Amino acid sequence: MSALGVEAAQASASVLRPMRDADLDAVLAIEQRAYPFPWTRGIFRDCLKAGYPSWVLTEHGLVIGYGLLSIAADEAHVLNICVAPERQGRGLGRFLLRALVKIARGQAVQRVFLEVRPSNPGAIALYHSEGFNEIGRRPRYYPARDGREDALVMAIELVPDDITTMPRL
Ligand SMILES: CC(C)(COP(=O)(O)OP(=O)(O)OC[C@H]1O[C@@H](n2cnc3c(N)ncnc32)[C@H](O)[C@@H]1OP(=O)(O)O)[C@@H](O)C(=O)NCCC(=O)NCCS
Repeated sequence: MSALGVEAAQASASVLRPMRDADLDAVLAIEQRAYPFPWTRGIFRDCLKAGYPSWVLTEHGLVIGYGLLSIAADEAHVLNICVAPERQGRGLGRFLLRALVKIARGQAVQRVFLEVRPSNPGAIALYHSEGFNEIGRRPRYYPARDGREDALVMAIELVPDDITTMPRL
């Protein structure tokens, strides 16, 4: 996989490239600031070992966000998508999500799933605005300060790129 130049608004100096082991210190530093219940290094390492598509967004060589997917048959799952807190709200999360969906589409995926906390309205708004719909709930899926929190399950159906016009009758 090669690095991709980014033309996102506010991100002209940003580059998306595959995550590697050497990125994990920087990734964990963001993870621990961005989430109340962060992933451990072991989870990221397992994703890399499993060969899941794992990408970092960098600016001037520094990691400022990342996104990970798993793909099995024609279904993909967004496992993690995160932008460093001080860089949020500038279009980078949308850019990362679109990049993950594009990667999935490139592997003939038909449906992309993700889970999100109901207490994360910013992420939910992003997913809705990119065409994801709520398709269910996983009860008590996440750890939470006062016990457990449900997950909303969201999904998007991908229409093949070549079906852009209706066939002639
Ligand atoms: C969720 C996250 C990835 C979004 O990234 P971001 O760079 O902040 O988002 P963007 O600037 O691309 O915003 C895209 C859209 O998301 C929504 N959004 C983002 N932050 C929001 C907020 N605080 N409140 C309401 N909507 C918000 C808006 O719809 C926004 O579109 P708009 O700017 O046209 O209104 C980022 O906030 C993040 O890393 N959060 C911590 C980790 C996390 O919760 N990940 C998701 C786990 S399911």
